Amino acid sequence: MPFDRPRDTLEGVSVDDLVIVANRLPVEAVENSHGVVSWRRSPGGLVSALEPALTGKNATWIGWTGHYPKAGELPLPPIPERDDDRDYRIFEVPLERDDVEQFYDGFSNSALWPLYHDAIVTPQYHRHQFDAYRRVNMIFAQAAARAAAPGSTVWVQDYQLQLVPAMLRSLRPDVRIGFFLHIPFPAPDLFLQLPWRRPVVLGLLGADLIGFHTPGGAANFQAVTERLLGWPSHDNVVEVPAAHGGRRAARIGAFPISVDVGEIDRLARDESVIKRSIELRGELGNPKTMLLGVDRLDYTKGIDVRLRAYTELLHERRLDPGDTVLVQVATPSRENVDEYQRIRDDVELIVGRANGDLGSLGAPAIHYLRQPLPISELVSLYLAADIMLVTPLRDGMNLVCKEYVAARVDGGGALVLSEFAGAARELPQAWLVNPYDADGVKEAVVAAATAPVDEKQRRMRAMRAHVADHDVQRWAREFLDTLAEGSNNSVVRSETSSS
Ligand code: ADP
Ligand code: G6P
Repeated sequence: MPFDRPRDTLEGVSVDDLVIVANRLPVEAVENSHGVVSWRRSPGGLVSALEPALTGKNATWIGWTGHYPKAGELPLPPIPERDDDRDYRIFEVPLERDDVEQFYDGFSNSALWPLYHDAIVTPQYHRHQFDAYRRVNMIFAQAAARAAAPGSTVWVQDYQLQLVPAMLRSLRPDVRIGFFLHIPFPAPDLFLQLPWRRPVVLGLLGADLIGFHTPGGAANFQAVTERLLGWPSHDNVVEVPAAHGGRRAARIGAFPISVDVGEIDRLARDESVIKRSIELRGELGNPKTMLLGVDRLDYTKGIDVRLRAYTELLHERRLDPGDTVLVQVATPSRENVDEYQRIRDDVELIVGRANGDLGSLGAPAIHYLRQPLPISELVSLYLAADIMLVTPLRDGMNLVCKEYVAARVDGGGALVLSEFAGAARELPQAWLVNPYDADGVKEAVVAAATAPVDEKQRRMRAMRAHVADHDVQRWAREFLDTLAEGSNNSVVRSETSSS
């Protein structure tokens, strides 16, 4: 079924049993240098994961197009019809320029994103940006309140919308509310820096179920609620005072997100994708060893870490510049935020220096693409790469490493993975590295490059078995089933309240 046009409003629309609320829609409007707007898939893991998880569910997805109207601009073109059978509807929450600057670039991506990623860069706290965050969260809550059928389920996504659960509960006490955080929840001492820690925690506790990628994130959140609010909390349940007396249960759980294993497996066995992977190696000069990085261009991803490690290994001749190449594909991201401009400059400086010092004509040491690629091309790259480098300084989960594992239907390849990615808990057979330890990263790359074939296959087999058994459909099912189960016993009466 085709997408509805994004500028349709929710008025007059039949309400749905499952409403997804996310800052991003699955498609974003992008403008070229001539001002022509077209649609493409939105960046990032939230969309990669949620979209396949919704297949077959009669759902509505409420979110933003990534675009704001400019003076005199024509309306956005309709989203092109889709050629597959996904059947959910999407509706736009329009944001103005000021909302985007203060809510998105500002509070979401200059305060919350760095704070939740261990303050790798210094979070910026500005009162007017939190005001915009509150205002925009209310816009999303109101849209969800209008879209949800009586007694239905609303599933709110990610750090941009942490106030929505409580706002929605006050607007629509009849709906079941789930929240999932797609990024890490930090250690309590770090989180407690946040000047608006209390409204954020109360916002999240408006949900019936609050999901995190890892048990560590869930435990951090529970510890924060205990320290900030002192409400009774036990066995992953916080007892929240309810609007009309008594208490209700807000449950906390770990639900590790994953990838669409079936779809990646299908692509990895597709003849044209396999042919392209062979072509790609040819285009790279048929090197003995090909290394690969695929990320959003984000300072949390440790792209600079791996490029430095690789460059040093070439200089030291521990990797042979004559028969080794590294391909780094980086999607542009959040380009109006200073720290993202800085990481781009850093990465491009390293690439330029490496190619100047170590490349030869027609054979750069690092092949760098700053652009999004279709998933089929990514799978061809995954199949072509001997070593996948995933070295974030902190990452909630990281889907790229799971995509790589799912794509290696040939049982080959090797994964170098940061200990600080949520996925490290599930993929201990990777070459795990501390990305802050430059020598350790270099050792792991050399170990992965020189490991015997049977060792690499043994590790890959174990990782593939885990990922095959834990796909994104399972993640969505487990979250939604847990949310549904809790709805029968989510009211905890206090001793004094009447029953
Ligand atoms: P994040 O959500 O922080 O961006 P993840 O690793 O969890 O990180 O998810 C990234 C998603 O974006 C993956 O599905 C990956 O395939 C996709 N992706 C990353 N880089 C590109 C790119 N250059 N082109 C297209 N998709 C990309
Ligand atoms: C991460 C976040 C998502 C976000 C994505 C892309 O995956 O968890 O919420 O959508 O990055 O970032 P962007 O700012 O472009 O939406």
